[in-house]
Amino acid sequence: MAPATSSASSAVTLNINGEKHQLTVDHRTTLLDALRERLDLTGTKKGCDQGQCGACTVLVDGRRAVSCLSLAVASDGREITTIEGMAEGDRLHPVQQAFLDLDGYQCGYCTPGQICSAVAVIEEHAAGWPSAATDDVRPEAGPPPLTPDEIRERMSGNLCRCGAYVSIVQAVARAAEAHEANRRESRTENAKEAAA
Ligand code: FES
Ligand code: FES
Repeated sequence: MAPATSSASSAVTLNINGEKHQLTVDHRTTLLDALRERLDLTGTKKGCDQGQCGACTVLVDGRRAVSCLSLAVASDGREITTIEGMAEGDRLHPVQQAFLDLDGYQCGYCTPGQICSAVAVIEEHAAGWPSAATDDVRPEAGPPPLTPDEIRERMSGNLCRCGAYVSIVQAVARAAEAHEANRRESRTENAKEAAA
């Protein structure tokens, strides 16, 4: 039976970490509150609740979004990834592993948002997207090296009250290197298969 709705609420299907959740939400409910209060996915954190700190960052259709400024009804049918969906079973996502190995956190409150953001940063950079720190934005210049300045700029929407920024930048750089190595490896494999 479809969930009851009213003029102030609607039934939505939230696709979160590969699982469909059907619920009725007040039109004013943010995606953050739906995750935390309705679905018990408390890995996504509430910091400022006004789009300033990045603690609530999740991926929506692969792009970063601050879930405190996103409405649950506007997320209907979209693919949402939260920190709970990053690992594959016991195997941490490479970004999670890099944060762990390099102490990219202290209290950990900002960490889910930092990690979601970093996953998207690495993809955006690999796709050749420039940032405000990129010197040469001409398409033919190719992707800029992911320098600490580039990482700081691209991660600037995620604040860390503990000031773990030095380690966070190192962790993002390490995860980006691993990502690039994987990409090179799969390109080589594909080329071998095509030549066979
Ligand atoms: S809680 Fe969403 S940006 Fe701070
Ligand atoms: S690790 Fe404490 S706020 Fe970032």
